[in-house]
Amino acid sequence: MKGVVFTEFLEMVESRFSADMVDDIIEDAGIKSGGAYTAVGSYPFAEMVALVTALSQRSGLEPQALIYAFGHYLFGRFALLYPYSIQGCSCAFMVLSNIEKHIHQEVQKLYPDAQLPHIEVLSSDERCLSLLYSSPRCLAPLASGLIQGALDHFGEQGRIVAEPLNDDGSKVRFVVELV
Ligand code: HEM
Repeated sequence: MKGVVFTEFLEMVESRFSADMVDDIIEDAGIKSGGAYTAVGSYPFAEMVALVTALSQRSGLEPQALIYAFGHYLFGRFALLYPYSIQGCSCAFMVLSNIEKHIHQEVQKLYPDAQLPHIEVLSSDERCLSLLYSSPRCLAPLASGLIQGALDHFGEQGRIVAEPLNDDGSKVRFVVELV
């Protein structure tokens, strides 16, 4: 997993909880580097799982809820860090339709070792967009938060329904309906 995901996660923890919470979860998770992540580096996905688990234990919040909140936060950060990725998009559906063929493709060029999900557009009209999320990292709650972040970015109101298509959550269908 790219370091940018770790640095943004720890920044969110610092702003929503505290700097002490950052130190505590790094210690609980047994991260040998002490959390010295660089944005362009790559680190084991298991370290992210351990950090989220530690934060869940200390905060009493469910891991899924923390991952969703992180996705929501992350969209705003990605929009600032990689503005060109959503340049020319005037609404959330344009962004969501462009993830696979444009946004993540550019990410892959920038970071050849990035491990990205597949996000396929199943159907789309003015009001309703359906996406298929597939990834062995089973981060559908992150996708859900990112989708909500995209709606908020454009000041749009929508309802997001996530329908798991298998038991481990590696395939999830999203239906996003503007209201
Ligand atoms: C602002 C535009 C976006 C940029 C620049 C961007 C970039 C990235 C980057 C850098 C990663 C980390 C890859 C790694 O750790 O190796 C990532 C992962 C991910 N992205 Fe995006 N992304 C964007 C929008 C979205 C949106 C709107 C979604 C919503 C479905 C999404 C879904 C995901 C998910 C779920 C992951 C985690 C990896 C996985 O599930 O396997 N991204 N993205």
